Amino acid sequence: MTQPLLRVDNITRRFGGLVALRDLSFSVAAGELVGLIGPNGAGKTTAFNVISGTVPPSSGKVLFDGRDISGGPPSRVVALGLARTFQSTSTYPEATVAENVYRGLLSRISGSVVNRLSGRHDWLLQPDGVETEINNILKITDLFAWRDAMAGSLAYGLQKRLGIAVSLAARPRMLLLDEPAAGLNHEECNELARLLRRLHQEWGLTMLLVEHHMALVMALSQRIVVLVQGEKIAEGSPQDVRDNPAVVEAYLGAPDYAHA
Ligand SMILES: Nc1ncnc2c1ncn2[C@@H]1O[C@H](COP(=O)(O)OP(=O)(O)O)[C@@H](O)[C@H]1O
Ligand SMILES: [Mg+2]
Repeated sequence: MTQPLLRVDNITRRFGGLVALRDLSFSVAAGELVGLIGPNGAGKTTAFNVISGTVPPSSGKVLFDGRDISGGPPSRVVALGLARTFQSTSTYPEATVAENVYRGLLSRISGSVVNRLSGRHDWLLQPDGVETEINNILKITDLFAWRDAMAGSLAYGLQKRLGIAVSLAARPRMLLLDEPAAGLNHEECNELARLLRRLHQEWGLTMLLVEHHMALVMALSQRIVVLVQGEKIAEGSPQDVRDNPAVVEAYLGAPDYAHA
């Protein structure tokens, strides 16, 4: 088997007496779109925090493209090509849409410290290429029409999309998405699905998608990992996971599953 792009290897993370992740292992191949699901408190965000280097694991390792990225720091993880979005909107409301995207590509500007760590020379931006790149990112994400609007003035769905645009400005090889559909209405959800599909199919972007919206995660994911109370209880195709009695059991009574 070829080396996976991301390998989570026996990760345990404790917070005091609480075990948020217990011996979690899974991998994601280059070009794959994998879903990570589980009821509230299952450890999904903690898994993202550990993978993206904001929280060190108590034990275990995270490998990205064969390199040990356990414990980050997050700037190194991004420079190596692994970016994330946040569960809440994380854009600067008092800056324009274009300025928010600019913030996302700062690490790629030739001469910055982080880019010397990356070794990805195709990824570097010369200062005179910045404007064009901001526009590229805004076009890919269908945000160009709002280029000069204050981020805080945008509808919620657009603010969340801007969060994705900021992450894409780092031109990641892999993107971790933490509940991108949360709070979106039906139409915004469909637009999100179209964007993620396009990024996957046209850009070949590798993605790990945490999502409560079952219909969305089932429709987009090639493979799904199920976490319950910090432990992986199932992994397989959307169909396998949906039919798995342990998964159905874990979700019984959880209203989110009504989406499926
Ligand atoms: N920084 C932290 N300090 C203490 N406990 C935490 C911290 N982060 C997460 N937890 C706990 O870890 C568990 C998993 O949380 P989380 O990863 O946010 O779950 P999910 O994203 O699946 O809802 C929860 O019990 C949560 O309270
Ligand atoms: Mg979470």
